[in-house]
Amino acid sequence: MEDSQSIAAEALREVPLLSGLMSADLSRIARIGKRKRYAAGEPIVTKGTFGGGLFLVVSGTANVDVGGKIHALGPGEFFGEMSLISTKPRSATVTAAESVDVLIIHAVDFKAFLMANPSLAVVLLERMAERLREVQDRIDTGGQLPGAG
Ligand code: CMP
Repeated sequence: MEDSQSIAAEALREVPLLSGLMSADLSRIARIGKRKRYAAGEPIVTKGTFGGGLFLVVSGTANVDVGGKIHALGPGEFFGEMSLISTKPRSATVTAAESVDVLIIHAVDFKAFLMANPSLAVVLLERMAERLREVQDRIDTGGQLPGAG
């Protein structure tokens, strides 16, 4: 039976990051992931801080502030992968744009999934490359990053 803290494994199949996983893995993520709700305006992760795992947006929108540009992340998208992989502080502040439901997967659990599922690592790398490229393009075009002029 499903309680308010859990999420159906089937719902996770809709998350592009997880679409290559087998049913048993989706069930495991559904079981170990922690559901949390953030109110509009509440910070979910704060730039410069450590820890907290990977966040999957279940419903609502989270805003990532990167060098003055806001990226809206909606249902099925994820954030928090950067410090999870590099064990460095959070690279940006992510705030609930409205009421946001997330599923949080702890770093140690998620790293185990990455090792066992190369397809997951590839999707993660693709998204990280896109995020890096967007910032790089702004630097190249003299965009809004601090110090970029
Ligand atoms: P992390 O550094 O752990 O915490 C902040 C998160 O914001 C980061 O992981 C990414 O998931 C996300 N993030 C950082 N830069 C960008 C970007 N340029 N576009 C979208 N999301 C980003």
